[in-house]
Amino acid sequence: MSEAPFSEVLRNATWADHSSAEDDAYLKALMAGRLSREAYGELVAQHYFAYTALDGVARALAGDPVAGPFVVPELYREEALVRDLETVYGPGWADRITPSAPTRTLVARIEQAAGWPGGYVAHHYTRYLGDLSGGQFIRMELEKIYGYGPGGGVDFYRFDRIGSLPRFKNAYRARLDALPVDDAEKQRIIREAKLAYQLNTEVLTDLGRVARAELAA
Ligand code: HEM
Repeated sequence: MSEAPFSEVLRNATWADHSSAEDDAYLKALMAGRLSREAYGELVAQHYFAYTALDGVARALAGDPVAGPFVVPELYREEALVRDLETVYGPGWADRITPSAPTRTLVARIEQAAGWPGGYVAHHYTRYLGDLSGGQFIRMELEKIYGYGPGGGVDFYRFDRIGSLPRFKNAYRARLDALPVDDAEKQRIIREAKLAYQLNTEVLTDLGRVARAELAA
């Protein structure tokens, strides 16, 4: 038995991975207001593929004792991402977007986690707790930069159906603390969360080519 709650252990074990994700050049250029709407749309597009996978696997794991408590349909992002893509690219958005190589790798790993509920929890945590935390800061910055409001543009970062975000995050951490798995499985989940950070960071690193092209122009 470890003394600290698992949510804390997981956060501490992955915080260095968080710092490198946060430090990414594309995100920095985006947050500095240096990218066009189309270049921002490239991130929305990659999210679209990753979250279609994440939420698709959620549906398959809804009844699972480990992953089931994390399956919250109010979090599903596909509808919000479609509104965002329509806003950024217009009605022809579907023809404009393709998953990058790192996104295809991330999606494949998420889909593998359909057979490993603990691994799925790691991917769910890395994305959704982040979207509910730093993601809210990112949304506020993007609203200022692009002038997007509710209804499309940054709806991905809007979670209107889960009530108070701080309360939801506390309940989420309580679910992590109550995971019905042994210490060895907790270690594997930590390793998968670190991998999830790495795969998500590689998606961002690849988007660096979009930022470089614009910044050089
Ligand atoms: C501009 C980029 C980013 C900023 C400014 C940022 C900022 C933050 C902040 C301030 C928190 C702490 C919030 C709190 O304690 O409630 C946080 C938490 C988190 N972020 Fe980020 N973040 C960024 C990017 C990312 C990325 C790219 C990911 C993952 C791919 C991510 C995943 C997470 C996760 C999982 C947490 C929750 C950690 C925990 O409490 O267990 N963040 N972020």
